Amino acid sequence: MDLLLLEKTLLGLFAATLLAITVSKLRGKRFKLPPGPIPVPVFGNWLQVGDDLNHRNLTELAKKFGQILLLRMGQRNLVVVSSPNLAKDVLHTQGVEFGSRTRNVVFDIFTGKGQDMVFTVYGEHWRKMRRIMTVPFFTNKVVQQNRFGWEDEAGRVVEDVRKNPEAATDGMVLRRRLQLMMYNNMYRIMFDRRFESEEDPLFVKLKALNGERSRLAQSFEYNYGDFIPVLRPFLRGYLKVCKDVKERRLKLFKDYFVDERKKLGSRKSIDSNGKCAMDHILDAQNKGEINEDNVLYIVENINVAAIETTLWSIEWGVAELVNHPHIQNKLRNELDSVLGPGVQITEPDIEKLPYLQAVVKETLRLRMAIPLLVPHMNLHDAKLGGYDIPAESKILVNAWWLANNPDNWKNPEEFRPERFFEEESKVEANGNDFRYLPFGVGRRSCPGIILALPILGITLGRLVQNFDLLPPPGEPKIDTAEKAGQFSLQIMKHSIIVLKPRSF
Ligand code: HEM
Repeated sequence: MDLLLLEKTLLGLFAATLLAITVSKLRGKRFKLPPGPIPVPVFGNWLQVGDDLNHRNLTELAKKFGQILLLRMGQRNLVVVSSPNLAKDVLHTQGVEFGSRTRNVVFDIFTGKGQDMVFTVYGEHWRKMRRIMTVPFFTNKVVQQNRFGWEDEAGRVVEDVRKNPEAATDGMVLRRRLQLMMYNNMYRIMFDRRFESEEDPLFVKLKALNGERSRLAQSFEYNYGDFIPVLRPFLRGYLKVCKDVKERRLKLFKDYFVDERKKLGSRKSIDSNGKCAMDHILDAQNKGEINEDNVLYIVENINVAAIETTLWSIEWGVAELVNHPHIQNKLRNELDSVLGPGVQITEPDIEKLPYLQAVVKETLRLRMAIPLLVPHMNLHDAKLGGYDIPAESKILVNAWWLANNPDNWKNPEEFRPERFFEEESKVEANGNDFRYLPFGVGRRSCPGIILALPILGITLGRLVQNFDLLPPPGEPKIDTAEKAGQFSLQIMKHSIIVLKPRSF
């Protein structure tokens, strides 16, 4: 054995002994840990379970180890919760104890170590940010002020598709146009700004930087440095790329949007009805409640939390409607009979359209955009389901499985909006039932639900009113294979959709 190998072996043995001692301490004397696969030294369960901890793989593990299970990913504890009662405990009963978020070296970069709202720990800063963001983003007044904008954007999608004769024959990748619509929906709220076309250079730049940020943050590439801290120095290159993307992105938000709005505000006084979200946020900055970095991180949070999540849900809704023509027809009949053929749906109509609401709910159930919620974390040692949970564990609530477990739902694999009139008539998307939490529930639940539901209703409603939505020519169905990331459940292929205009 040469010296180098001997040195490596001794180091390995040393690390293994250290880990074995730590694990036995945790498992043994003080802690009664949740069940899970037996960890090996240094790596824990990482090599057994791999990187791809998506909702389906975690469901398989829950079937084996139970409704609460522990995985050791290197030095990190990961607790997976898979029953409505335990979800209630994490999100509601012990909402404070489990109300923090995990971060890692990469998220520390993108959030400036938690200067944002989505990824900050539960405490004073989070409370302040959530309060400051509520008036500009998360009230019914915001919906009433902005719904005309969303109706206008959905109308422009319909207009553009009608103008494109190929859409009715060869079809088009509708997602691209819907993405522009979602950016416009959110940038109108934030800055009273919109992008004219998919080719708008600012839109192209923004989309690319947001895409890079999502890819870098969600990638499994940096796990080794996160799970095994001694390997962190090898992440230097990766972290440098993250820093670069973060800086370019925040600079773009600042130079092209925040500063522009500031200039406009200093030229004329904007009355309270003409205010966009950024005017309120800048008021909070002027009062000294938050600093300039916080302002930029609010813009960053809305970019990651609002745009793609809603877009994925719209895309899934379209795919399910294409693949279930009888449901599409039933929805069209509802729209035609309640509103009159050709009368374009607006936000206040949604409450008169129960089948449309059921289609939205069923889409969010079967194709839950954030199937494991945003990971929660306990700052201190805690108890859950009769087990000890060591401080700073990452807690994943498998919300997708809660809503797709055949023990709790009738034929959950079927796309059947009717379930929300029949056996599930009392279930709402706001978390009134712990089997169905597409937006989470409790302190860290999604405040954007108040915007997401009407945007989904208006968009799907307008599309079905104005077009027959069909699969690509020669194919019976759209491919609905899933692409699941750490925080997301998206459709794998952005399919071509044929949109045949209806005439009225
Ligand atoms: C269909 C669309 C959407 C879905 C499915 C969705 C889902 C979620 C989920 C599951 C969470 C985490 C809940 C938890 O950890 O317990 C969340 C958090 C959040 N969402 Fe949404 N969301 C959507 C749209 C939006 C929109 C439109 C906005 C903003 C305008 C938004 C803003 C946020 C924020 C700020 C948080 C973090 C809350 C906190 O940590 O306190 N979301 N969302």
